[in-house]
Amino acid sequence: MEIRLQKVIADSGLASRRKAEEWIVQGRVTVNGQVVRELGTKVDTEKDHVKVDGRHLKAVPPSVFLMLNKPKGYMSSLSDPASRLTIMDLLDGVGLRVFPVGRLDFDSEGLMLLTNQGELAQALLHPRYHVPKTYLIKVKGVLTDEEIELLEKGVDLEDGRTGPAFVKKIRKAQENSWLEITIHEGRKHQVKRMLESVGHPVIKLTRVRFGPLSLGDLARGQYRYLTDREANALRALVRERLARGEGFEAKDAKPSRPLPRRAVQGRGRAPRPLPTASSPRSTRSSGPAPRRMAEGRGRPSRPLSRGSNPRMRRRGS
Ligand code: URA
Repeated sequence: MEIRLQKVIADSGLASRRKAEEWIVQGRVTVNGQVVRELGTKVDTEKDHVKVDGRHLKAVPPSVFLMLNKPKGYMSSLSDPASRLTIMDLLDGVGLRVFPVGRLDFDSEGLMLLTNQGELAQALLHPRYHVPKTYLIKVKGVLTDEEIELLEKGVDLEDGRTGPAFVKKIRKAQENSWLEITIHEGRKHQVKRMLESVGHPVIKLTRVRFGPLSLGDLARGQYRYLTDREANALRALVRERLARGEGFEAKDAKPSRPLPRRAVQGRGRAPRPLPTASSPRSTRSSGPAPRRMAEGRGRPSRPLSRGSNPRMRRRGS
């Protein structure tokens, strides 16, 4: 089957599609020994020999999806120019290169999805897909019904009016209160700015749901592989949104129903390495793992314990 060159490179797990496009334009990619600089070029992976910087692409690695409970005090990027801790410091044992799907602020915590499936990640982040994200937040003061209505309808921020949101009061705590807010966009500091705009600064923010995924009781600083069911739910979400086109209806403001807790949390929460992992941060594996291993089924009987993550031991959390 003929596939676009940048997709073949991205699917190999070597780089994102955008990076692969850069490499192609830079003349670093050859097909059957010829440099190819045209982005539309299609190749047949069965027959054509694709090389980057003179080296063959590895066999296509299995798709990997994992969920991390990011603690505050960690950058949600894979590296940080200021040498602060990043989520990379929490991913010991992940043998394939994964990318975070979206961001959380340094002082925010909660559910982060990571995957090596660049296209799916991009689709989940695209504003057109309106993937619901739910945050449990502690705010200063107690919101009135009018303020909640305002947030739900959309508030004016400096980068435009926000889309419909869904706000649920959770409880009041002395001078402050807890809320759950579901939004469908992913603007920078969006939840904090929304709450600030109605006069209730955010004190604490935890992402508890992302599309069909729920954080459940995954401990802070820990990750786990998604179950097949969860990974398929993500794929289905993208397929469904694609099929639905670009329209956005008000009913979308309600959070989509997360998978039942049992399905999400039932299997092996403790992190464990992929069977193909040759080194914790290697971008290469010794060979593709069976798909089912990468997505949560057929786990080895001995999960990687909390204690085996040196950072967790040190923090003692
Ligand atoms: N909104 C914010 O303000 N911060 C986050 O980290 C996520 C959403």
